Amino acid sequence: MREPGLGRVDLHCHLLWGIDDGARTPEETLEIARALVRAGFRHVACSPHAHPGYPSNDPELCRRRLEEARALLLEHDLPLELHANAENLLDLELPTKMQSAPRSIGGGPWVLAEAPYLNRMPHLQEILFRLQVNGMRLLIAHPERSREFESVERARAAVRSGARFQLDLGSLVGRHGRTARKLARAFLADGLYSVAATDIHSAKDAEWLEEAIEELVARAGEEVAHRLLAVHPMKVLRGEGVEVAC
Ligand SMILES: [Fe+2]
Repeated sequence: MREPGLGRVDLHCHLLWGIDDGARTPEETLEIARALVRAGFRHVACSPHAHPGYPSNDPELCRRRLEEARALLLEHDLPLELHANAENLLDLELPTKMQSAPRSIGGGPWVLAEAPYLNRMPHLQEILFRLQVNGMRLLIAHPERSREFESVERARAAVRSGARFQLDLGSLVGRHGRTARKLARAFLADGLYSVAATDIHSAKDAEWLEEAIEELVARAGEEVAHRLLAVHPMKVLRGEGVEVAC
């Protein structure tokens, strides 16, 4: 049953300004935040890139910007609660990094990480095992955009091994090309996703948000869409386990 009053929760969003390839200014952060509120979101786990190519590789800078963004939203009366998060790289170093200086969702056990777009991931099972041994859980960002999961069999195997998949809403409406759209629709029909998120980088990105959510509802139905957008991401934020959405 649909839980009344439960707002949507975005676990992947580049809302914090001036630290990666996301929002560039406080004004743009506000514009994106307004679009998220209009679309029914009440929580955002801001996920700047934990990547050496961006200032956001510095966790202390991200923590300060998160505080500044919270103050900005409060000043503008926007009912959006912000939480800590990062978009990590899904590579062999991830389990070690998560032990020494975890950058997880809300400081809990869940790690958001993106797989390489162009390369296969022969070490995925090993990474997953080492994370799980350390009590961490893996949420794979937009798997439909990664070479590793171009095979639905490999996607199913990753989910069977305990990884959970985050749908990029933009993929459903072709924001990331035809292959990503085809895979997103196939994974959704196959019930492989556990959460859906925006991965918004700019105010322009926010323009397609309503259309993508309508597409999700049309394909998966109201109940599954509600689980993907609200129930499951809230559980992840609280550090609880989640299954696939169907
Ligand atoms: Fe992202």
